[in-house]
Amino acid sequence: MNITVMGAGYVGLVSGACLAEAGNDVLVFDMDPRRIDQLDAGRIPIYEPGLQEVVDRNRAAGRLAFSNDVQAAVAHAQVQFIAVGTPQAEDGSADLSQVLSAADSIGRWMQGFKLVVTKSTVPVGTGDRVRNAIADALQARNLPHGPDAFAVASNPEFLKEGAAVDDFMRPDRIVIGTDPGAAGERARELLQRLYAPFNRIQDRVLMMDLKAAELTKYASNAMLATRISFMNELANLAGEAGIDIEQVRKGMGADPRIGYSFLYAGTGYGGSCFPKDVRALIRTASCHGRHLRILEAVEAVNEAQKHILVQKINTRFGSNLRGMLFGLWGLAFKPNTDDMREAPSRIVIKALLERGAQVMAHDPVAMQQARKTLAHDFSGRIAMLDRLRYADTAMECVQDADALVITTDWQAFRSPNFDALKKAMRQPVIFDGRNLYDPSLRQQGFEYHAIGR
Ligand code: UDX
Repeated sequence: MNITVMGAGYVGLVSGACLAEAGNDVLVFDMDPRRIDQLDAGRIPIYEPGLQEVVDRNRAAGRLAFSNDVQAAVAHAQVQFIAVGTPQAEDGSADLSQVLSAADSIGRWMQGFKLVVTKSTVPVGTGDRVRNAIADALQARNLPHGPDAFAVASNPEFLKEGAAVDDFMRPDRIVIGTDPGAAGERARELLQRLYAPFNRIQDRVLMMDLKAAELTKYASNAMLATRISFMNELANLAGEAGIDIEQVRKGMGADPRIGYSFLYAGTGYGGSCFPKDVRALIRTASCHGRHLRILEAVEAVNEAQKHILVQKINTRFGSNLRGMLFGLWGLAFKPNTDDMREAPSRIVIKALLERGAQVMAHDPVAMQQARKTLAHDFSGRIAMLDRLRYADTAMECVQDADALVITTDWQAFRSPNFDALKKAMRQPVIFDGRNLYDPSLRQQGFEYHAIGR
């Protein structure tokens, strides 16, 4: 099948490459010519394990190409995916301007029937706005704009950064939301066919109403965020009460109704999805006159949790950290990505530098991205960044350090040589924002501060 993907960002690139891998002829459009030039030169602008190989293989096979010619992109395929960004607007809602502009472009250039599938995470009701934008553009061209002209569908992505290619190739569910009637029938038939190769072992397709699909995406992320905030709040209680939250987590997770995943206490959830999606859902609800009290608490608990490491450092060392050196392990918001969006490391680095400390940071892949992000965070106070340096290895990072702060749960940080660590550090103090080690570390001469243990 021919497929067009509008938007060569994270979701668009992964979806486009994986749809090509299944044998489709995919054209990925982006309005940014520099991004297209970069992709044409074989450079993938994001770090995602396995993506480069899938892109290279499918470009070589002639099944994947990039373009910034919108007319050609619309002409390429009957099925048009919208996978552009939906950044957070000032008021916490999702900014839909890129989604609606993609819909308008499709309406402006289309010839013949199109199925327009929204993959970007969009608030409930966006399907209606996409439909209207296409219909308006068709009307402006004096063309018919009824269900025979086009159909819209919602097919949200559930990709996890760091495992996105695998998530796409082996999905646990494929949610497809369509309209009732003949246009919806046509949409269901096309998408069922498109997803058949990803659906061989077990039927993963869940057909539903369009708005139900839109809400499913937000509801899933909000539920996962709720589990995390719940555990963070319990961890703070456990820490005060002398209880190890990790023991509690195992006890809870053993109940199959609860399960083990997303029960890890830490420094609060970050990344490009949870914070933005929780806020957007709260905002959508308020547009319907509903007050989502649970999610407001989830968000408030998370905001507070993001500062937990800074508070612990403050309690231990006071607020003046002049002359002290902190080693910091982990810059990305989570392992296997270089994504710095809403990463807890940024809050810790900011607090440490503002209080006069020196920081030596290390991350297996995110150091280049971190340099750019922190230069932006400290714009106007760029001189402060002189006290932040980067180390090529985790051990180099802690040489003569007064404390080690861990902000990302990279596998590589899980079992360091503790004897070497103790020898390298000026004092063996660890602030572990990810509960990587057993509290028995304290018997080995470490002062170990963790989250709820
Ligand atoms: C998430 C969803 O998992 C994915 O389905 C959706 O499509 C996009 O949003 P992602 O943002 O890549 O994916 O990361 P995820 O692995 O879900 O982690 C999100 C945040 O929660 C991270 O900051 C992580 O550190 C934190 N987290 C996760 C916890 O603090 N505790 C946990 O138990 C799990």
